[in-house]
Order: sequence, then structure tokens, then C-alpha cells
Amino acid sequence: MNIAVVGIGRIGLPLAAKLAANGHTVFGCDINPARVDQVNRGENPIPDENGLAGILRDAVKAGNLKATTDTATAVASCETVLFTVAVDVDASGRAGLSPLFAAASDVARGLKPGTLCIFDTTLPVGTTRRELAPLLEGGGLRLGHDFSVAFSPERLLMGRVIEDLVKYPKVVGGVDERGGERAAAFFREALGVEVIHLSSAEAAELSKLSEGVYRDLNIALANELAGVADRFGVDISEVIAAANSQPYCHIHVPGTGVGGHCIPVYPRFLMQGEGPSSLAALGRSVNDSMPGYAAERVESLLGGLAGLRVVILGLTFRPDVAVTHHTNAVDLLREFRARGATVHGHDALIGAGGVRQLGFDPAPEPLNGYDVAVVHANHRAYRDLDWRAIAPLVVDARNALDRKAVEAAGVRYLGVGRPVSPD
Ligand SMILES: NC(=O)c1ccc[n+]([C@@H]2O[C@H](COP(=O)([O-])OP(=O)(O)OC[C@H]3O[C@@H](n4cnc5c(N)ncnc54)[C@H](O)[C@@H]3O)[C@@H](O)[C@H]2O)c1
Repeated sequence: MNIAVVGIGRIGLPLAAKLAANGHTVFGCDINPARVDQVNRGENPIPDENGLAGILRDAVKAGNLKATTDTATAVASCETVLFTVAVDVDASGRAGLSPLFAAASDVARGLKPGTLCIFDTTLPVGTTRRELAPLLEGGGLRLGHDFSVAFSPERLLMGRVIEDLVKYPKVVGGVDERGGERAAAFFREALGVEVIHLSSAEAAELSKLSEGVYRDLNIALANELAGVADRFGVDISEVIAAANSQPYCHIHVPGTGVGGHCIPVYPRFLMQGEGPSSLAALGRSVNDSMPGYAAERVESLLGGLAGLRVVILGLTFRPDVAVTHHTNAVDLLREFRARGATVHGHDALIGAGGVRQLGFDPAPEPLNGYDVAVVHANHRAYRDLDWRAIAPLVVDARNALDRKAVEAAGVRYLGVGRPVSPD
């Protein structure tokens, strides 16, 4: 089968490589010529994506994967087109759809009769039918007669994409009558994955947003409960572990916010257009308040932060993945600075240049002599840090550290919703 994957970023490239590894002829289309050249050399631009380097190199060598900036020409030779161009939110929280619209217009120029177009990018409900399908018709073909359209969200974790592509069922929903059936058949054959076929593209769009908002609200609940635990001086970690021993209770882990491409973004898709969700908005505001809450707790514990030296360790949005999208590390920086602290940043994955780009002054090596160390993303590289040398107080922003190990080093530990170690 000839397949075009439009947008070979963090998600599209592993998807394209996996399809090529399964024996299909895949065209990876992207507007970034440097990315295209790198892929055509068989080089992996995403080193922290497990298993990608090998299948990418082999697929390019076998001639099954070719990258191109000429989307229309590639699409003209394909039976199926998958869209994995990112959609983010702008400063006002609105979905920024223009890159995806541009990609759909490029595809429309190459679309030939019989093609199946599948949108994998998470979207506000109704976008595939109302906005994207008409753009595809702009090439002169008629939806439902000449070509089909479906929506099928990616349900993946960065760093584990190759594994996750076949691990979870693929949810699909068609815009035209045949679109859903054809998309279901495509994923069964091309990836060998279980498929859940919903009755419309809108149902599939809403199912993906439901997953996202569920997780955001669940974390918001954990964060509120952490605040209650703080007021009563109890440890939220043991509280949640106990509550979750009941089979219908699945409370997540509290922390200083939610980052990344997905969870902080998708609830906002439910806060716009028809039927805005007030709970989604509430969850966002609870989670967005957490960096300020954490800084405030440290401030009241130490009797002020003015003039104190703070280092924030691990600036990516989660451990061991070099992605800083919507990372709460920058919110912690803002909150500690606003209280008069001198803040440095350190990240074992993105280097001093990446640290500067986020607005931090890079922490000089070796790390020592701070008043407070905040561990935001607990990278594996931080496992053997000498806490005693770094700071007398360690703030665990994700309740991810081994509290006993920190205390054994003679350092005070403060987690989210967890009492501070005695002085
Ligand atoms: N990253 C995740 O963890 C994750 C998880 C599940 C689902 N998703 C979904 O996947 C989507 C893509 O995410 P990503 O992390 O791969 O984004 P990304 O930014 O890494 O990749 C997007 C790619 O699209 C390219 N692009 C932009 N405009 C284009 C155009 N007009 N034509 C062709 N290519 C174009 C960009 O150059 C980039 O390479 C997200 O919006 C989300 O809906 C992401």
C-alpha cells in the first residue's frame, strides 16, 4: 500500500517508520526541509524515541520510507493519507488550526479519486467534517463520491510511540459513510491493531478529548486533595494509595501542574465553540494555580524567598523526554522569581542552550550551594545526585523522588500535599 504521512514530527515520524517497517511504501511529508533531508539520510531526529532509530534506518535503506517537502506530488501516488500536523492553543486558549489547514490544502492539490484521508491530530469536535473535509474538496473532488475522510486520534506516549501504536485500540469515526469503515480496515491491515469503530468523526473526536479532560480533571482533584492534606498535615501519597485500593477509585498523582502537547491543551478544545465545559475550565484553573501554590508553601516554610538561591532541576514537561512544550518549569521560575528568589535552571537532557531558551539562567556545574532545589522532571540522570551538596531543602514537584533517600542525606524533603521533614 502507498501511504502519505503529512507532518513527520514526534508522532508522524515513528508512525511513518512503523508503517514502512510493516512493508508499506510510505511518503513522509513535511514543510521542514532539514527534517526531510535528515530522514532521507536515514538519521533519527528524535533520539529519545525508543526503537525509532533502527526501523527508520532500515526503512530508508530498503526504499520503503521517503521524506519530501512536496506533499501534493506524494499524495498523488497514495491510496491513504494520514495527517499528523500538530494543533496547539494560542495565548487566548483557541485551537491554532492554520498549520493543519495549510496541510489539508496541500493535500487537496494532489488528491486523486479513491483516496482515504485520515486525521490523527487531536481536534475540537466537528473540525474534521466542518473545516477539513471542505478544504480537501477544494481540489475539485467530492467527499463521499470521490474520496473518504475519517478521524482517528493517536493515543500514544512520547518515548514509547512505536510500542503504543499497536498496544491500544485505534478509535476511528468517519465523516462520509465509507470513511469510517475504510479507516477501520486500513488500521487493521496496516498496523495489525484492534479497532474501535465509532459511528461518526465527531464521536471519535470527542472520545479523544474525553480521555484528555478525564486526566486533567483527575489531576486537578489530586491537587485539590493535596491542598486539603496540607491543611491537616497528612501525607496525600498514603491517602491516595489507600483510596485507590478500592477498585472504582483511580486518583492520579498531584504535582505542580500539567505540561506537554496533550493534557493541558485538549480541555481547552472543550472550552470553546458549542457546549463549553465548565468543569474543563475549572480543572485547568486548579492545575494552572499549582506552581504558585508550591512557591507559596516554600515561601511560608522559609519565612520568605527574597535573596534566596533556588535551582530548578529537570525543565522538560516529563522525565527522560527532551520536550519542553507547555512545561510548568517556566511557571515555577516565574513564581519563585516573583517572590524575590534568584533562580537557576538545569536540565540533563536539553543542555544550557535549551535552558536559556526557556528563560532560565543555567545553573553552573557542579550543582551546589543553593537554598532550595526544586525537582520538576525527575530524569534518570538525577538518580545519584548529592542532595546535601545541592541544597538543605528539596521540593519534589511530582512526588516522584525517594523521600527516604533525600532525608537520609540529611536534607529536608517537601512534596506536593506531603508534610515537610522535621528541621
Ligand atoms: N506528542 C504527543 O505526545 C502526542 C500524543 C498523542 C497525540 N498527539 C497528536 O499528534 C499531533 C502531532 O504532534 P507532534 O508531537 O508529532 O507534533 P510535532 O510538532 O512534533 O510535529 C508536527 C510536524 O508537522 C510539520 N508540519 C507543520 N505544518 C505542516 C504542513 N503544512 N505540511 C506538512 N507538515 C507540516 C512540522 O514541521 C512538524 O514536523 C498533536 O497535535 C496531537 O494531536 C501527540
